[in-house]
Amino acid sequence: MDVFDAIRGRRTHKSFDPEPVPREMLEELFDLARFAPNHHLTQPWRFRVLGPKALVRLKEEAGPAEAPKLDRAPTLVVASARLSGAQQQDEEDLCATAAAVYAVLLGAHARGLASYWRTPAVLRTREGREAVGVPDGERVLGLIHLGRPLTQPPPKDREPVGSFLVFLD
Ligand SMILES: Cc1cc2nc3c(=O)[nH]c(=O)nc-3n(C[C@H](O)[C@H](O)[C@H](O)COP(=O)(O)O)c2cc1C
Repeated sequence: MDVFDAIRGRRTHKSFDPEPVPREMLEELFDLARFAPNHHLTQPWRFRVLGPKALVRLKEEAGPAEAPKLDRAPTLVVASARLSGAQQQDEEDLCATAAAVYAVLLGAHARGLASYWRTPAVLRTREGREAVGVPDGERVLGLIHLGRPLTQPPPKDREPVGSFLVFLD
């Protein structure tokens, strides 16, 4: 798939086929993260694929109102950035990790998978982080949902390029 088509065609999906994404496919997708730009080659991204026990722990911490939302996709992956405490480096490492997550989403789309980048509140709590093994010193960027698509969501309205691109003298 052409990269322009991948970027334009990716969508946030909220309903998935229940079949988990095979481990080999996940390894292929997350290998793409290695190629994200990152200053000083800090390679700050960390990804944790939730197994059944981790999912149960996270749902317990999420509580009954939020737990069902963690069942939407068959494969969930916590994305985080390992930070150093140095402000500039940390800013760069968050950007690099976001770029790595996006690479994974685009790769998933190119392989025919649906994806969803979500930032559930439970991963902003100490208990939720502990449930999925995120240590102090890492910042969670979100929960990546992956699986086969059930539908193709329509594109959302976007502002035209002229509204955010300027050519300076
Ligand atoms: C950092 C980040 C966090 C997001 N968190 C959520 C979320 O918690 N819940 C949600 O419904 N969508 C979340 N999204 C997905 C956006 O809502 C979605 O990308 C946006 O609506 C545009 O739709 P599209 O991805 O199909 O182009 C998040 C996206 C990003 C980049």
